[in-house]
Amino acid sequence: MTRKPGDNDDWSVPRDTSISPSLADVISARWSRREFVRAGALLSAAVSLGLTSQRSSAAKSPAVGIAPQSRFDFTELKRVTGEDHAVAAGYRADVLIRWGDPLFADSPPFVPHHLTPETQARQFGYNNDFLGFIPLPARDAGQLRGLLCVNHEYASSNLMFEDFSWLTTGWISEMTCGVELAAHGGSVVEIEQVNEMWRVVTGSPFNRRILGFGTPMQLTGPAAGHQRLKTQVDPGGTHVNGMISNCAGGITAWQTWLSGEENFNGAFMGELAEGHPEARNHAIYGIPEKFYRWGLFYPEFDVSKEPRSPNRFGWVVEIDPLDPASTPKKRTALGRFKHEGAESIVAKDGHVVVYMGDDEKFEHVYKFVSRDRFNVEDRKSNLDLLDHGTLYTARFDADGSVHWLPLVHGQGPLTAQNQFDDQGDVLIEVRRAADLLGATPMDRPEDIQPSPVTGKVYVVLTNNDERESEQVDAANPRADNVFGHIVEITEERGDHTAKRGRWEILIRCGDPADDDHGAEWNPTTTADGWFGAPDNIAFDRTGRMWISTDGNDDSDGLWGVETEGPLRGTGKAFYRAPDGAEVCGPCFTPDGGSLFLAIQHPGDGLFSSYSSPGTRWPDFIDEMPARPSVVVIRKA
Ligand code: FEO
Ligand code: CA
Ligand code: CA
Repeated sequence: MTRKPGDNDDWSVPRDTSISPSLADVISARWSRREFVRAGALLSAAVSLGLTSQRSSAAKSPAVGIAPQSRFDFTELKRVTGEDHAVAAGYRADVLIRWGDPLFADSPPFVPHHLTPETQARQFGYNNDFLGFIPLPARDAGQLRGLLCVNHEYASSNLMFEDFSWLTTGWISEMTCGVELAAHGGSVVEIEQVNEMWRVVTGSPFNRRILGFGTPMQLTGPAAGHQRLKTQVDPGGTHVNGMISNCAGGITAWQTWLSGEENFNGAFMGELAEGHPEARNHAIYGIPEKFYRWGLFYPEFDVSKEPRSPNRFGWVVEIDPLDPASTPKKRTALGRFKHEGAESIVAKDGHVVVYMGDDEKFEHVYKFVSRDRFNVEDRKSNLDLLDHGTLYTARFDADGSVHWLPLVHGQGPLTAQNQFDDQGDVLIEVRRAADLLGATPMDRPEDIQPSPVTGKVYVVLTNNDERESEQVDAANPRADNVFGHIVEITEERGDHTAKRGRWEILIRCGDPADDDHGAEWNPTTTADGWFGAPDNIAFDRTGRMWISTDGNDDSDGLWGVETEGPLRGTGKAFYRAPDGAEVCGPCFTPDGGSLFLAIQHPGDGLFSSYSSPGTRWPDFIDEMPARPSVVVIRKA
């Protein structure tokens, strides 16, 4: 088992996550898969009542006598686990870049038993998660070239430091804290394909390390300069010295990189002064979690010294990879929560819509709609589009409708009566605002992504083992949901700016052969094709959906998932990670010929350590620890 920031449930503030159950909720709650099969006679009645959204649409069988053609034409990978990774026959998976690899001409060599903040800051960081690819013009005919945007989500200190101990803090020093912060953040890396092989262009002028501490960033949008963002080091409330815990993200139509700060609560230690006005706010976000001890050396991470500092994290950061000198911007208009994913699409009328999840049990789904329109002719005019617009949160009703509720100060309960004095307050405390609006508490929303072909939006809900039977609702239909599920949204009129749409469940994850899982897949899904704990989504250029997992029953991997036609709801296994790793950031090149995957925390586990990792992937050298790495997959 891997321990990550945000995993500590002890701090959770009891939130009222109950919803008054309607008759439909009660029926839905009772319809486990087994009951569904047994109660076949009730099906037609349920359909006539408009309750079809409560069962997985994946359960539809293909037409009898016709073998439907899979859109995924590879030979399915067997259910394998091991110290090495594995990919479907006919494909090759090569390591492109590893933790500690050089990015610059002056990058020092990677010496794992002698890490320093200075060396780590010039090398590829730890725990790569999101991957985005921004094409660059080719230098020669046949060459492919681009910028890979990679975030570094957290530091697996148990695997990074020889002296690490779970039981004592004696191993912690200014050096280890500095290394952890330098291992955070992100990397922009130029890569090129030469003779069918991808390689890193070390020393490219585009290459950049963005750090957890030491990279100046600007707070922009409605909350910038807000009183609650001001600290002793930044009395103006507009500048932050880094980004932390960045998880999934997205690439915009104007080729910038959005990166979501996720489990930022892990960065903070110390105790708030008695009766501090931020106490309720911090408790709702689980602050301080004390996963790291950076506050010993950096007052920004000690709430007893800088009580407002946590309000400066938990934002979506926009980075311009095409301008290595640009200042990353924390876009407050997109709200402050544990951001997982920030996939965007340009709506029919030109407004930009960003879909986002708040990855915590019983948290919410969001979308942002820009005030202004995307201008395909003028990149510069788009660079601050995300500072103005409306943030919405989702309420999933049992009748299959989804309603997008605006988080706008002065509307509904978002007034001074509920301690929201302005829009900045709403954005800083989005979770509380969404609760007041009646947003649906979900089973940990991770990546949310619109299909570029159908326009349908897929919401990955990774799991929630704390949902009690009396808390199930139509959109989160399983108590103790350890396998997760995938919700599909069809926006009204196919318009991503719409204030409502329809939803249904595409898949209830888990093993369909095990009745206890309550899973629902297309019946054509094989024993290798099912998965649990879905995390990231990618669409390839033909519109096929791919899902990677974190916390699957055996090992994590990547699966193709059919979304249309008679095979809708079928999973097919393509790639398996090495022991202990999760698979993140699936990302295709625009020609569809290469697939990049981020392999995070290989070798981690309950008893894993620097000297005894679960695997020494990808180097398999005795002195070399396991190394989070990006792999590239191509046809062999
Ligand atoms: Fe960083 Fe929600 O995974
Ligand atoms: Ca994730
Ligand atoms: Ca994605």
